Amino acid sequence: MIYTDPSARLLALHTTHTSYWMGVDETGRLLHLYYGPLRETPPAWPEPYFDPGGRPDRLPQEWPCPGLGDNHAPFFAPEWADGAIAAEMRFAGVKTRAGKYALPGLPAFRIGEDPGAETLRITLKDGRGLTLTLLYGVLPGCDVITRAAVLENTGEEPVTLRGMPSAVLDFARSAHPALDFITFDGAWAAERTPCRAPVRPGVQAVGSVGGIPTHAHNPFVMLCTPDAGEDRGECWGAALVYSGNYRMQAESTPAGVRLSVGIEPFRFAWTLAPGGRFIAPEAAFVYSGAGFGPMSRCFHRAIRRHLLPARWADMAAPRPVLLNSWEACYFDFDEAKLLRLAAAAKAAGCDLFVLDDGWFKGRNDDTSSLGDWVADPAKLPEGIDGLCRKVNGLGLAFGLWVEPEAVNPDSDLYRAHPDWALQIPGRETLALRHQYTLDFSRADVREGVWRQLTALLDSCPVAYVKWDMNRTLANVYSAALPAARQGEVYHRYVLGVYELQQRLTDRYPDLLVENCAGGGARFDCGMLYYSPQIWTSDNTDALDRLMIQYGTSFCYPPCVMGAHYSTVPNHTTHRTASVEARMAAALAGTFGFELDLTAYTAAEIEALHPFVQFYRDHGALVRGGELYRLAAPDGQGAAWAIAAADGSEAVVFAVGAPLDGRRLPLPFADPARRYAVHALYTGSAPQPPAAPLPGETLLEQGLPLPALSGTLPGYVAWLQSQEG
Ligand code: GLA
Repeated sequence: MIYTDPSARLLALHTTHTSYWMGVDETGRLLHLYYGPLRETPPAWPEPYFDPGGRPDRLPQEWPCPGLGDNHAPFFAPEWADGAIAAEMRFAGVKTRAGKYALPGLPAFRIGEDPGAETLRITLKDGRGLTLTLLYGVLPGCDVITRAAVLENTGEEPVTLRGMPSAVLDFARSAHPALDFITFDGAWAAERTPCRAPVRPGVQAVGSVGGIPTHAHNPFVMLCTPDAGEDRGECWGAALVYSGNYRMQAESTPAGVRLSVGIEPFRFAWTLAPGGRFIAPEAAFVYSGAGFGPMSRCFHRAIRRHLLPARWADMAAPRPVLLNSWEACYFDFDEAKLLRLAAAAKAAGCDLFVLDDGWFKGRNDDTSSLGDWVADPAKLPEGIDGLCRKVNGLGLAFGLWVEPEAVNPDSDLYRAHPDWALQIPGRETLALRHQYTLDFSRADVREGVWRQLTALLDSCPVAYVKWDMNRTLANVYSAALPAARQGEVYHRYVLGVYELQQRLTDRYPDLLVENCAGGGARFDCGMLYYSPQIWTSDNTDALDRLMIQYGTSFCYPPCVMGAHYSTVPNHTTHRTASVEARMAAALAGTFGFELDLTAYTAAEIEALHPFVQFYRDHGALVRGGELYRLAAPDGQGAAWAIAAADGSEAVVFAVGAPLDGRRLPLPFADPARRYAVHALYTGSAPQPPAAPLPGETLLEQGLPLPALSGTLPGYVAWLQSQEG
């Protein structure tokens, strides 16, 4: 619910459990007053407000401005024609409406089915000719508040934006004397490990200048009280709905902590001619007064219901169980080998066969051919359509890997259009994985790629596309833009990717798109607007996946995490793990296979059936249920569960010997019910609890885990409730 009281100059956004208050001071500044538990009475005005000195950098603000006394590290930086960088945005009006705003050309949480969704539009003006519209979206059922900002040049001179945040959130020191900052960091094959530290004086930030979020950080961060944990303490999560260069910055000053999120200002410059406008990407916030678990569940609900393409939202559509050819074949295959693999996938119970890299003209390793999206006649004499029809004939849908943003210098595309690659004149272009990046800021380049993609997708019934992106951007310079506009290229590139993915999903509404970037280097809310799943990491090792999927789950729900069962020793880590552990990691995501099943005996294939059946029976629960992180990964194991919102059923996963014989308290268990425990095992089955267990026992004493031994053992169970 949105509350506005223009006479008292107070504005409030209420979700089911949280409130966000703002106030307009007598000079017209928009102050941030409160973001915390639901509160229907106005909070106190910030103390510095009464400071007769009126120092602007002591005031918690919604849109801090540079150049006129706010000495925080500036993020918003409009440069006027005379070179001055300054602004004074003052309140000019407010409007509310039912439903949530959308952002043209940019992903944003959708109105969805949430009947109570509302939008608050606050207009701020600078006298020299800038009008800022701050958009606030309220998704009450998910306890999510979104923000976006639209800046319009309403003056008569050009203004160049040298920094443009999406949102700023001030935490006054008087209300929040100490806060921790949590970021999600890593590397290739080790994405999104939570990293927590007290906010230190000064600026600390994560972000990217690589054109994509990269493996190193994620555009999701949290602030929390020092006592906060999974089920206690206060925390605030901030997700940027954006897939390019970004900065998530916490700055501690004597006044408090300022969290600013938005497009990274390095190499960002956007000139607004009179009448021009710039739309900053959306940011989404959740407050929880009861720790990280409830915060994550709010983000998960909002992403599932209101961000994913409607076709795949929430529990709407089952996702296919797929087998991906990459770890089975790499570049080494022909049609006969693929068909043997597809037949084995069918025997294992898969729905979809995905042909990964290596299928296009001359592609026998990663040195050539990206950009030439036609089948390699040496490997696939009957083309992609021939293979697709044969795979369909086996009773499987067909899917394909592409990397539309990439081009190898050794490709027909590059030879024909060398200027289509991003390159700085007079400098050597950096090849990473032997490839350059196409200039997606250019409509003609996108059109060229689009023609190739549609020719491919129109040639046969492709049900799934894995859209990969295997390098960061460098040599970012567009041959199509003048010198003064080169600061637009990074952002225009992202807008170009969004445009093409939107076209793809509009033209092929039933196509399942899985995004990917060398594993999980572009795992963000922006991409989830176009694809309901993202390949979480190239690392499919069960033990490492515990941490990767745990860290990822702070913002993103299990149903968006690409997760495959793979062979042992694992191809990345060379470690081994039990079937149950590998299955637990895969079943808690989108579930698929990535291994050479042609090497399996009929009996070994048969042993996979119970797990595939488990996914068929409980996949809807995994996709639409509520995640509980029960034991954080400690390098040895972890446990988690996904429960129905009413506590009527759950799937429980435990991995690692340290959980051996332990009891796992289940916070979602309903004391009014009893739960039958159905555990899944290969080999010698440990004894699961024989009789149904009372919800109260599960809640207080916990679910007794059976003996778990061997190399990385695992436990997967379905808990089915009975009344009373
Ligand atoms: C990336 C992806 C992998 C695979 C390879 C193919 O690394 O993350 O899953 O598709 O590219 O080259």
